[in-house]
Amino acid sequence: MSIHILATGTSRGIGAAIAAIFDSDDIRFVGHSTTAGPDRIAADLAQAGAARRLWDGALDQLDGRIDVLINNAGIFEATPTTLSDAQWRDGWERTIQINLTAAAELSRLAVLHFQEQDRGGRIVNVASRAAYRGDSPDHWHYAASKAGMVAMTKSIARGYAKNHILAFAICPGFSMTGMADDYLASRGGDALLADIPLGRVAMPDEVAAAVRFLALDAPPSMTGAVIDINGASYVR
Ligand SMILES: NC(=O)c1ccc[n+]([C@@H]2O[C@H](COP(=O)([O-])OP(=O)(O)OC[C@H]3O[C@@H](n4cnc5c(N)ncnc54)[C@H](OP(=O)(O)O)[C@@H]3O)[C@@H](O)[C@H]2O)c1
Repeated sequence: MSIHILATGTSRGIGAAIAAIFDSDDIRFVGHSTTAGPDRIAADLAQAGAARRLWDGALDQLDGRIDVLINNAGIFEATPTTLSDAQWRDGWERTIQINLTAAAELSRLAVLHFQEQDRGGRIVNVASRAAYRGDSPDHWHYAASKAGMVAMTKSIARGYAKNHILAFAICPGFSMTGMADDYLASRGGDALLADIPLGRVAMPDEVAAAVRFLALDAPPSMTGAVIDINGASYVR
């Protein structure tokens, strides 16, 4: 029987690598981004109700069964402390909504679906090294959203292992995508690489390989695990 997968944020970067790695005859894969595309459902996860519409649309495309949810969509937008009170709050709300609340809404729908199907399922959440190390002064909210994602993952793992529902998180460091390019440039480019013992940032296909392992092959006893992919730039 084929494995049915829904992944968010697959139009580019790490998500595009995730979509590519699941391109296989024994997998039915539905991707997502803010705009529709081949194998992609459109949903702006900043909007209320978008997670439900995405989930229902994916279920429809996958004949009523999803086995694996991958929460990868995310934003890394600066919210400097010098903004007005209202702007700073808006920045926080937008990041928390897209990076954490929408992933939580989709995870809830997945857990309910997995319970209803009574055949278990897997959730893989793409968090960040920032969950453990923190981030820049303009990105408190980003680090907080990813730390929340890790805590949510552990809660799901502990709460539903008895139902064969497994949950994992991945914490990439810098990964060579558009988002990372901007970040590296804003931090002095190559100088930042000196902080990474491996001497380079991660490649999206390295993150995708870890996602694939957790989604398909990781032994059930690994549930609740958080996998680092950061070239030993943050070892814990
Ligand atoms: N790259 C890194 O250095 C790095 C490091 C640690 C963690 N991560 C995490 O890895 C994940 C992927 O990062 P990336 O670098 O590959 O990002 P990216 O290249 O910027 O792509 C982000 C993806 O999320 C989607 N997205 C953005 N805003 C959205 C919204 N409002 N509603 C729905 N989808 C939205 C984008 O869709 P559109 O194309 O439609 O905008 C795109 O598919 C993120 O969760 C990120 O936090 C990345």
